[in-house]
Amino acid sequence: MKISFSEPAVPSAGAVVAGVFEERQFSPSAADLDRRIGGALQRAVSGGRFSGKKDETLAVVAPAGLPVSRILLVGLGKAGSVDERQLEALGGTIVSALNAAGENEATVLLDEAALGVESLGGGKAAARLALGARLRAYRFDKYRTKQKPEQKPTLERLTIGTDSAPAAKRAFQPLDRVAEGVFLTRDLVSEPANIVYPETLAEQARSLEELGVEVEIFDEKKMRKLGMGALLGVGQGSARPPRLVVMQWQGAPKGEKDAAPLAFIGKGVTFDTGGISIKPAAGMEEMKWDMAGAGVVIGLMRALAGRKAKVNVVGIVGLVENMPSGTAQRPGDIVTSMSGQTIEVINTDAEGRLVLADALWYCQDRFKPRFMVDLATLTGAIIVSLGNEYAGLFSNNDELAERLTAAGTAVGEKVWRLPVADAYDREIDSDAADMKNVGNGRGAGSITAAKFLQRFVNDVPWAHLDIAGTAWSKKDAATVPKGATAFGVRLLDRFVADYYEG
Ligand code: BES
Ligand code: MN
Ligand code: ZN
Repeated sequence: MKISFSEPAVPSAGAVVAGVFEERQFSPSAADLDRRIGGALQRAVSGGRFSGKKDETLAVVAPAGLPVSRILLVGLGKAGSVDERQLEALGGTIVSALNAAGENEATVLLDEAALGVESLGGGKAAARLALGARLRAYRFDKYRTKQKPEQKPTLERLTIGTDSAPAAKRAFQPLDRVAEGVFLTRDLVSEPANIVYPETLAEQARSLEELGVEVEIFDEKKMRKLGMGALLGVGQGSARPPRLVVMQWQGAPKGEKDAAPLAFIGKGVTFDTGGISIKPAAGMEEMKWDMAGAGVVIGLMRALAGRKAKVNVVGIVGLVENMPSGTAQRPGDIVTSMSGQTIEVINTDAEGRLVLADALWYCQDRFKPRFMVDLATLTGAIIVSLGNEYAGLFSNNDELAERLTAAGTAVGEKVWRLPVADAYDREIDSDAADMKNVGNGRGAGSITAAKFLQRFVNDVPWAHLDIAGTAWSKKDAATVPKGATAFGVRLLDRFVADYYEG
């Protein structure tokens, strides 16, 4: 889908979109269209359910007096000020409605003044709407070879009519780069585990070199030399060898070139059978997306490099496949992590923390970063706590936690902080080794997992996002079609932009 910006004008073909506020208050553009077609919009609206609430749409088809194929009215909600998130949702809802209708091209008449969005600054409102449209138009259908034309999206061109078209185009540029990062993540997370496994996922990360990201790929031998016994233990049951990928984006401005980097670390279990502590068959296919944390870090690096973020960032992903086999790690095995700490592996299905243990330790040891944020589909327990609306946030640093929370709210990727009090730490003490990889009871499973990670961050400010409930969605949302959500890419891009650039 091609998105462009131009002066607001009723198009000579395709659909035209205009907004209506709650209680059937027409925007100036909607009122103008209504006049041109003899009041047909008012007639259509007056009797029906459409009242201008958010997410509502109403189409008037082939109106006499105008060359357009249809007029799509969209609900704007309460009159007054509309925020960035609502504009994105609006863009997404418009794309969804136009595709459902089978339209090819459309023009949106954005009334910045009436929307109360001029305060956002020149072009920002139109750019946000465009971003929402872009994000909703994503599809992962490369393996569906028998789709009929009526099953495919039709919308090819979306024009946003705005008084500040040149500014909107400029404002959309970096947002579109972020969308590309989101799409890379969604693609990687959607791919099945026979296509995306440690070696191929590492090669995908390698492709970021085109954007100026420095990429290093560590094989088993290199990791053994570094002493990454925790990560290697998880991978040893699989025919697919593990990888660790280090990505560096050096965007800091002159004079700050050597500034300590921000660090993002992702769990990349390309398939999680549970290993010898094998999972039940029902739903196990979902464990293809157990690499979502790594997918988000790779997509984030793409977004940051794409928009040339003015900051130094390192991304590290630990890539393994967790399989049961004759070479697989057993419950009771004791492994030595790169930090030197030993771990008794009570449950081979608690593998993500083992992978992250070595990735986190390596990261702080080599880079001395300003902070580390890790992302992982770490625990089923976080779904029990927070469902699919919020990701779990755990941190040893209040400022970091507050910034992540604010960035998440701003982009609609919400996080909720849970405690990491010392009392939980005792739960993972082991009689046989320095620690064990699961807690004593079943209580507070997400917290004991976080406490495990915390033993590998040293004294670095750190935050952990448990995205097990938010990485994948079973239903469409305004800017996130069902499937891989890429939850975390937009949040962390915003977090970096708001607090660490310039
Ligand atoms: N990848 C899973 C967590 C998960 C579960 C993600 C459901 C998405 C949906 C993780 O590796 C895991 O298996 N965790 C165990 C930990 C337990 C053995 C302590 C879990 O949550 O059951
Ligand atoms: Mn597991
Ligand atoms: Zn897992």
